[in-house]
Amino acid sequence: MFTKTALWALLAGVSSAKLCQNFTVPVSIATINADFGGVQTPQTNLDATAFVLAATRQGGSGTAGAVTGTKAVSGTYNISAQYCTPNKTADNSYILQILTHGIGADKTYWDVSYNNYNYSYVDYALSHGYHTLSYDRVGIGASSHGDPKNEIQANLEIESLAALTKKARNGELPGIHDKPHKVIHVGHSFGSVQTYAVTAKYPGLSDGIVLTGFSMNSTFLPWFLIGSGFQQARSGKNPQNYTAGYLSPATPSNVEYNFFYPGSFDPKLLALTFQTSQPVTIGELLTIGSAAPLQSNFTGPVLVITGENDIPFCGGDCFATGGAATSIPAASKIAFSAAKAFSAIVPPKTGHGLNWHYTAASTYKQITNFLGQHGL
Ligand SMILES: *[C@@H]1O[C@H](CO)[C@@H](O)[C@H](O)[C@H]1NC(C)=O
Ligand SMILES: *[C@@H]1O[C@H](CO)[C@@H](O)[C@H](O)[C@H]1NC(C)=O
Ligand SMILES: *[C@@H]1O[C@H](CO)[C@@H](O)[C@H](O)[C@H]1NC(C)=O
Ligand SMILES: *[C@@H]1O[C@H](CO)[C@@H](O)[C@H](O)[C@H]1NC(C)=O
Ligand SMILES: *[C@@H]1O[C@H](CO)[C@@H](O)[C@H](O)[C@H]1NC(C)=O
Ligand SMILES: *[C@@H]1O[C@H](CO)[C@@H](O)[C@H](O)[C@H]1NC(C)=O
Ligand SMILES: *[C@@H]1O[C@H](CO)[C@@H](O)[C@H](O)[C@H]1NC(C)=O
Repeated sequence: MFTKTALWALLAGVSSAKLCQNFTVPVSIATINADFGGVQTPQTNLDATAFVLAATRQGGSGTAGAVTGTKAVSGTYNISAQYCTPNKTADNSYILQILTHGIGADKTYWDVSYNNYNYSYVDYALSHGYHTLSYDRVGIGASSHGDPKNEIQANLEIESLAALTKKARNGELPGIHDKPHKVIHVGHSFGSVQTYAVTAKYPGLSDGIVLTGFSMNSTFLPWFLIGSGFQQARSGKNPQNYTAGYLSPATPSNVEYNFFYPGSFDPKLLALTFQTSQPVTIGELLTIGSAAPLQSNFTGPVLVITGENDIPFCGGDCFATGGAATSIPAASKIAFSAAKAFSAIVPPKTGHGLNWHYTAASTYKQITNFLGQHGL
């Protein structure tokens, strides 16, 4: 382990109160993406709405309908990451949490700066002795961008998470040569779908997973697409240079519908979330529903934690199951027949963006309790 002094000396720049370092990790990826030959990349806001209409038409084949084949994709991509070290670890063990954000956000979802980091998941994890590695998913934020239809799709991002995890496990992150004793993967939303998929495909990469804002039920995905009011990111406020086919929600109201539960959040945080929101590619929207296999071979402990009023994964009510299960997130248990433990938690009066609600601290506590109970 680093001594605290050595670490301070090593860090190029240190943010105010915590021991963090930002760096870029290049990863080489080769994967097979879907070929959406039948889809034109939307060029205008009119086209963006036409795309959503086609993907949500009743009786249609949904977002996956336009696949015409497969396409090999390979290249080196830069991943922009933030790595943080706790002031002290609980028992001298080095447990790393790898945090994968969802649609509409970047890595700052895990380290919300609002009200002096009051809502920061990273701060909570650090204060409980964990190390954290959060990153902008390939295609988004300060990571490499790419073609929004053919390139920036679920499979490419799943392989990038696998590659990033291997580097972290092998002590190959820039300036970080220690190898973690355990690695936990925590995702939010599409980041949970990727966490699920990467640990289904490579079960040995992770010692435990936490899927926040997640279920195995894709019935309500169209609500998210419609609720977003998608417009071209390049026509909006975003300073990054996104090309046509990168889409952003039109207004704060669209973000509220998909991510926030009325009465359970600070309206100024909604405003900040809209201001700093990041886009989604049409390739991601076309592959999100098919990215996760129905069964996972993952053998570690699994926690699913999804707000009671989550829109995309519960249709606004996680308890409306018609008696089929105790909750929609709990119904995901069927996918984890090899897991050594499974729990589902449904924080009350909470929407999809868990970290942005008044329940955030309670959510973090329940995640940490679960990890502790399972030796992580
Ligand atoms: C690292 O990036 C975050 C944004 O993700 C920023 O707030 C912070 O100031 C950066 N830290 C350093 C040390 O540059
Ligand atoms: C990755 O970053 C390096 C150094 O900043 C830069 O030279 C390279 O062009 C970048 N590669 C991609 C694919 O963006
Ligand atoms: C770590 O130490 C710094 C400097 O003493 C302090 O400001 C910060 O709050 C501490 N962080 C945690 C998570 O305990
Ligand atoms: C899980 O393991 C079985 C048996 O080895 C294999 O057939 C299946 O493809 C694996 N599932 C995934 C998602 O890799
Ligand atoms: C966006 O593009 C403009 C013009 O090509 C360039 O000056 C600017 O640096 C770019 N910004 C980013 C964040 O890449
Ligand atoms: C998804 O949830 C809804 C509401 O509980 C239920 O009617 C539907 O059968 C579920 N679908 C799947 C595939 O579990
Ligand atoms: C801090 O966050 C908690 C949720 O974790 C919330 O209940 C509380 O109102 C927030 N306080 C401020 C001042 O933002």
